[in-house]
Amino acid sequence: MAELADQIEALWDRAGELTPEDTDALAVVTEAVDLLDTGAARVAEIDPVTDQVVVHQWLKHAILMLFRLRSMETIEVGPFEFADKLPLKRNFAADGVRVVPGASARWGSYLAPGVICMPSYVNIGARVGAGTMVDTWATVGSCAQIGEQVHLSGGVGIGGVLEPAQAAPVIIEDEVMIGSRCMITQGARVGRGSVIGEGTILNPTIPVIDAETGDELGRGHVPPWSVAVQANRRRDFPGGEFYLPCVLVLKRLTEGQRHDKAQLNDILRSHGVSM
Ligand SMILES: CC(C)(COP(=O)(O)OP(=O)(O)OC[C@H]1O[C@@H](n2cnc3c(N)ncnc32)[C@H](O)[C@@H]1OP(=O)(O)O)[C@@H](O)C(=O)NCCC(=O)NCCS
Repeated sequence: MAELADQIEALWDRAGELTPEDTDALAVVTEAVDLLDTGAARVAEIDPVTDQVVVHQWLKHAILMLFRLRSMETIEVGPFEFADKLPLKRNFAADGVRVVPGASARWGSYLAPGVICMPSYVNIGARVGAGTMVDTWATVGSCAQIGEQVHLSGGVGIGGVLEPAQAAPVIIEDEVMIGSRCMITQGARVGRGSVIGEGTILNPTIPVIDAETGDELGRGHVPPWSVAVQANRRRDFPGGEFYLPCVLVLKRLTEGQRHDKAQLNDILRSHGVSM
């Protein structure tokens, strides 16, 4: 993989000159995106020693170069017509993934066995862990990293981060439940087992405050095993008093505990396939 990374970075140095006629370059970039598509590589991961997010920039570079190297194609599905540079992901049944009509995932995203996609969208470079439910009208932006046994409820918007290449993508850790219509963007992170109330906005500038102590726990990062909801904090500006969003940690779960409102329903998750 190191050799492929070097080849991608060499191409990136002359990315501005690449055209769809560069078939050798396209073959190299396709090899890299295939690694994302099969789950053999990922754009970002958490270093188990430092707990910091490590971004593999070369894979983001590969995705960006795809858009220079591939031409537009017309794709027809029955009465539907699309025009794009990238194909859609395929072979869901073989991968043990359930995809409801109306859902689409782009080639170069990875859906682990047991994933269920209700009518929703998963963009290139994103990774969705085993047993996760991507509910109706949820969108998983490019390169976002979603853990195992997560529930992205209806209409959740997980932001994509392709540029700048070193920027950390959104990270949703294992066993998280994100309530309906939340917006989690720009490299925000939700720690393992947390439950996030409906309509919460989280980005790296939004303070996360402990309701028990009033302390700011950080910005854009909800700690593991937290139950957090959208709240507002007062800010004084020369123009007056305004209320800006914050995220309030209402309570803490014990490690491994599932909140009673975030229990997973096995019937909805049944695939008829072994995972
Ligand atoms: C976030 C959540 C777990 C909180 O539930 P809970 O821990 O049982 O908390 P409670 O209902 O006891 O509420 C505690 C307080 O937070 C408030 N609160 C609850 N949910 C809230 C939300 N989404 N935003 C803001 N405040 C909220 C309550 O009004 C209550 O305030 P009070 O103490 O003044 O009465 C729950 O609202 C939830 O599961 N939300 C997601 C639901 C969802 O999107 N499901 C998907 C499909 S329907």
